[in-house]
Amino acid sequence: MQNAYAKFAERRQKLEEQYNDEYFLKQHKRGKLTALERIHLLFDEDSFEEMDAFSPPANVSFGKSTKAMGDGVIAGYGTVNGRQVFAFAQDFNVLGGSLGTAHANKIIKIQDMALKTGSPIVGLIDSGGARIQEGVSSLAGYAGIFRRNVLASGVIPQISVIMGPAAGGAVYSPALTDFIFMTADTSYMFVTGPDVVKQVLNQEVTPEELGGASVHAFKSGVADFVFNDDEHTILGVKALLSFLPDNHIENPPTMVSDDPVDRIDEQLRKMVPDDPNQPYDVRDIIKTVVDKNRFLEIAENHAANIITGFARIGGYVTGIIANQPKVLAGALDIDSSVKAARFINFCDSFNIPIVTFEDVPGFLPGTDQEHSGIIRHGAKLLYAYARATVPKITVVLRKSYGGAYIVMNSKNLGGDFNFAWPTAEIAVMGPEGAIAILYRKELEAAEDPEALKKELAAKYRDEIANPYISDEKGFIDEVIDPAYTRLKLYRALKVLEKKTVTLPGRKHGNTPL
Ligand code: HXC
Repeated sequence: MQNAYAKFAERRQKLEEQYNDEYFLKQHKRGKLTALERIHLLFDEDSFEEMDAFSPPANVSFGKSTKAMGDGVIAGYGTVNGRQVFAFAQDFNVLGGSLGTAHANKIIKIQDMALKTGSPIVGLIDSGGARIQEGVSSLAGYAGIFRRNVLASGVIPQISVIMGPAAGGAVYSPALTDFIFMTADTSYMFVTGPDVVKQVLNQEVTPEELGGASVHAFKSGVADFVFNDDEHTILGVKALLSFLPDNHIENPPTMVSDDPVDRIDEQLRKMVPDDPNQPYDVRDIIKTVVDKNRFLEIAENHAANIITGFARIGGYVTGIIANQPKVLAGALDIDSSVKAARFINFCDSFNIPIVTFEDVPGFLPGTDQEHSGIIRHGAKLLYAYARATVPKITVVLRKSYGGAYIVMNSKNLGGDFNFAWPTAEIAVMGPEGAIAILYRKELEAAEDPEALKKELAAKYRDEIANPYISDEKGFIDEVIDPAYTRLKLYRALKVLEKKTVTLPGRKHGNTPL
């Protein structure tokens, strides 16, 4: 017996010794925390249970090997703010966090466990990709991970946190998950690195320019969240988790709010400017309406003409989508359509009601958009709204014109509640376009075309581009006083709490791609 325990203690001590001062220092010098520190930051104190801590690395013949126990990844489960979560953290100190067979098997094991138990999974990624000396086995390991990412999609929330390199095919596991966090300056993601770019295209590019956090936050839209350091990135992950259910069967965690649902905000009446062409920041409206002005925005710097994020209204977790008049007048383009569609798909998978604040002049015109496939990409947004079975509520703040009216959760597309503010302009097109088509001859013949345009625009707004025709026809359920928006939304969410919809049976739909 004594021998058995001595061996047990010896193994544990060896593992502890692995995490010596040098181990921490090496990674701190790179401006990063170690895998162990990251795990401890993520999980509630003393709640993390490590699995397969002693996995030996594979025996490989190419010389470069490691004796590190655990094969460069810490994997296991614990609680985050009291809720069960699985996670793995790649250890850059062990062969650059590269993915060998044992390393892959550990990740695969917790992916399977997370799926079986219906728990969210978080991957803390800091890796040089497939471990070169393990050859095809490490590629097979990635394939196993990717397949599980796909199987778990829409079943449990999957979050990827890039805290160092993510190179080569390694970027595709994060890309298959629901949200990607990146840490500024220390993380980057690319399919082919700067060396290959140089060889193939003879272009000089730094890792940061090719796939740093700001590239993915602003341009590519790959990163949903960017924080300045490891600590804040992990805090961001915890904030996101607080809005998400454990799995697709459960509802997102409601929270009793001390922000009264019948709080009346008269300032909302002044938030849409009198001049229909004057921009404003729709975030101000969102924050005024939601509980305690708390709004967790997603991908705030990418496709900024649409806003997406999570908030609570009367305690109900809500996915918020809003056209942003401050950017491109809120027009829908390819990037904003894709951004919003993806967000809707997530909300719908995880029982999160969607509230849409609408102020959209239409789709962005031009050859650039048409040639890049706005038809295909705009269809993604239509498809996502129309397919979603979660409660769907729209508030038309101002413009709601043409195809964009239809797309943004209009009544006939499946909106459960469609409200409009008195400032709403709902019509086939804006006054300028409509007058140019309908009154072309009269304008050509007019002595003072500008005066006639002005007169006709006022008439058009009064007679056509207002919310009352839609209200009378039932396309709008109610024209509301903006000050009461919060209460109206809360009541709508409450009445829709038990909404059920059954879609026609099928293997799966053919989403436009
Ligand atoms: C084995 C690796 C490794 C890898 C890094 N290391 N990447 N070992 N396989 N893929 C080791 C290094 O040899 C080094 O070991 C240690 O990790 C740290 O690496 P450095 O290069 O010293 O660090 P740094 O300068 O910070 O550069 C990090 C890096 C670079 C940018 C990640 O190492 C790199 O470019 N690695 C290769 C990236 C890559 O091309 N991976 C394969 C992608 S293909 P020592 O012992 O010296 O400390 C792929 C296919 C996936 O992933 C397939 C899915 C379909």
